[in-house]
Amino acid sequence: MTRFEDVKILIVGLGLIGGSIARGLKRKNPNQPIIACDCDRAQMAAALASQDVDQVYDIDALSAACADADLVVIALPPLATAAILPRLESCCNERSVLTDVASVKGYVVAAAEKLATEFSSRFVPGHPIAGSEKSGYLASKGELFEGRNIILTPLKNNSSEALRLVTAMWTTLGANMLAMSVPHHDEVLAATSHLPHLLAYSIVDVLAKQERSGDIFRYAAGGFADFSRLASSDARMWSDIFVANRAASADVLGAMITALQALKTALETSPDTRLGTDLHALFSDAKETREAFINTHFNPTANKSMNEKSVVFIAGQSIADQSCANLPQVKGRVRVPGDKSISHRSIIFGAIAEGRTEVSGFLEGEDALNTVAAFRELGVTIVGPENGKLSIIGVGRDGLSAPRKPLYMGNSGTAMRLLSGLLAAQQFDSELTGDESLTKRPMARVVEPLRLMGATIDAQAGGRPPLKIAPAKLHGIRYAMPMASAQVKSCLLLAGLYADGVTEISEPGICRDHTERMLEGFGYPLTRSADGSTVSLEGGHALKATTIDVPSDISSATFFLVAAAICPGSDVVLEHVGINPTRIGVINILKLMGADISVLNPRSVGGEPVAELAIKYAPLHGITIPESQIPLAIDEFPALFIAAATAKGETHLRGAEELRVKESDRLAAMAAGLERIGVDCEMFPDGISIAGDPEVRFASAEIDSEGDHRIAMAFAVASLRAAGEFRILNCANVATSFPNFVELSSTLGLEIRVEHV
Ligand code: S3P
Repeated sequence: MTRFEDVKILIVGLGLIGGSIARGLKRKNPNQPIIACDCDRAQMAAALASQDVDQVYDIDALSAACADADLVVIALPPLATAAILPRLESCCNERSVLTDVASVKGYVVAAAEKLATEFSSRFVPGHPIAGSEKSGYLASKGELFEGRNIILTPLKNNSSEALRLVTAMWTTLGANMLAMSVPHHDEVLAATSHLPHLLAYSIVDVLAKQERSGDIFRYAAGGFADFSRLASSDARMWSDIFVANRAASADVLGAMITALQALKTALETSPDTRLGTDLHALFSDAKETREAFINTHFNPTANKSMNEKSVVFIAGQSIADQSCANLPQVKGRVRVPGDKSISHRSIIFGAIAEGRTEVSGFLEGEDALNTVAAFRELGVTIVGPENGKLSIIGVGRDGLSAPRKPLYMGNSGTAMRLLSGLLAAQQFDSELTGDESLTKRPMARVVEPLRLMGATIDAQAGGRPPLKIAPAKLHGIRYAMPMASAQVKSCLLLAGLYADGVTEISEPGICRDHTERMLEGFGYPLTRSADGSTVSLEGGHALKATTIDVPSDISSATFFLVAAAICPGSDVVLEHVGINPTRIGVINILKLMGADISVLNPRSVGGEPVAELAIKYAPLHGITIPESQIPLAIDEFPALFIAAATAKGETHLRGAEELRVKESDRLAAMAAGLERIGVDCEMFPDGISIAGDPEVRFASAEIDSEGDHRIAMAFAVASLRAAGEFRILNCANVATSFPNFVELSSTLGLEIRVEHV
């Protein structure tokens, strides 16, 4: 494979963007061959003089400039980009890859699609979200793209090689890669970039045409300068942009006009106090939104830990009520978001497969989104997610590229453990980090067996993250896992894909098998023992892209199963839930406790069983939870403990020490919360006993979820039976697995308010 610094680059258009690309690349790789082509001789002479380019050609000599370029970057406004594509088709050599930088994609893509498929398959549309109101080569800066986002809108037939080359250019310039569909890009940009420019131009114009415009400008100050800065942008380029993105711009302008019209009417007709209150509410919301945006996008790390602790759920009824006569009934039909385990795996396997994997039902929660970001950093183009759909353009088994920074896994033990197996087998260095909770979780369970396979991994004291991984050649092992962990099993299977010989893993108790099912879906040969306790594979085969429909997450559905199970008169249907036999411990346990659950319309979707789950309230009684069910319900215990607290008699759980090393120590966090709401329980090193009471109204209390999403949601559900409100602290991480929990809860009759403190 050619090193990127040897790739011959032709930049067509030496303005702000083209010039910044040339300067940035030369700064990183002084020997990178760069040719520029423009119609402005003075700009080209300046670029030659500062050695940002090696050679220049007038635009009339485009054919000569193209002759042996490997990568052609069209750095022109949208209309000019569309216009030059047919010329490039006729003069580029048949191996050169092309990309552009236009901020409207639909118009450019429509022009590309009129050309021969062979040519358009080499054209990768792109758009750097970087720029300035200044224009021209002299305003260009080598660092313009550092830390900025680049949006690719790949064409259906773009090859992964073409994507890889374009990605390599932008990552060399220090940018982060994103990808979107063309319509989504144009809508988003119409709102976030094009509309503000339109308004800036038009406010300057409106003011200039006022009768006393001289006066206005004489007294104008910082506010006017700030607001109108965008009106100094390149007029040619921006008029082009609106011609090219008329429809989306008109839509968002329509929404703006409606809002302005409402403001005008209010100014003309609302009584003073009403107007004051309405405007104050509007301005406060807008101020909060803007500040949150600035914090998240311009200072994300400084605000991360503050944000994590800042979300509080106020759940339950504000009026104290001790009787059981007026308990709320939980009723309705909902579809909870996609399965977290399967969502992570769809990205991982899609990334190393050959071809384009299409995923639907993807969980757009923070954990899975961190996995998407990690694979983008590893050089994979991932389009979306948009409404749960994404396309992963696989780079093949050996196509990942070295990350430039530590890969941030957020709150997700699954992502860190699975990626450790994949990365241990790569021929580059990498580092895996995470948030406060993840940094405390044990990684020795993966590091030790990976070392047995030949991996070179350093963990922190006590086997904690960050994990530093160096290149290694792995060999297969036979490994009997000391605990029933799907994460450990999956980690070793991923490493095994690259190992010499066979990797065989056996588990002491059955745990989730999504990895095995997905590998089969990607056409990878795998052997499983009849009882499912041993799995083996041989390294070296290829994975073939596939289609994945992610079912709804039974772990998220659990909160509503329990909500219905603890409130008389409840009746809930949960749609399209994954009922993989290795995940249905919660159904089995609730049924043993007396719950009335039916599994309706079972079917298979892309290798995973799926069904509707219907639950009607029935009285619960305490049980001793069978140990065999523990790995099958491992994430569901926080919610199950709430069900136990409303059951008749005691519920006992032993043999569940794994709960101590989840996102929090779930035995301790739940015992502490249960005590605060007045439930009698006894904690053991490996379990808990809970004294249930079918007549219970829990005491109103403040509960610390300890930043654990499932603890927060379990107590939010418990609030259905609270005698007053619960104040549940530290709930931001609910967004890791169930981003619309509060909204869906309210459709079923749960009262949860969110406070940002
Ligand atoms: C998961 C496996 C389980 C589970 C986690 C997701 C997975 O962890 O708790 O939420 O996707 O493989 P262990 O395998 O460590 O028990």
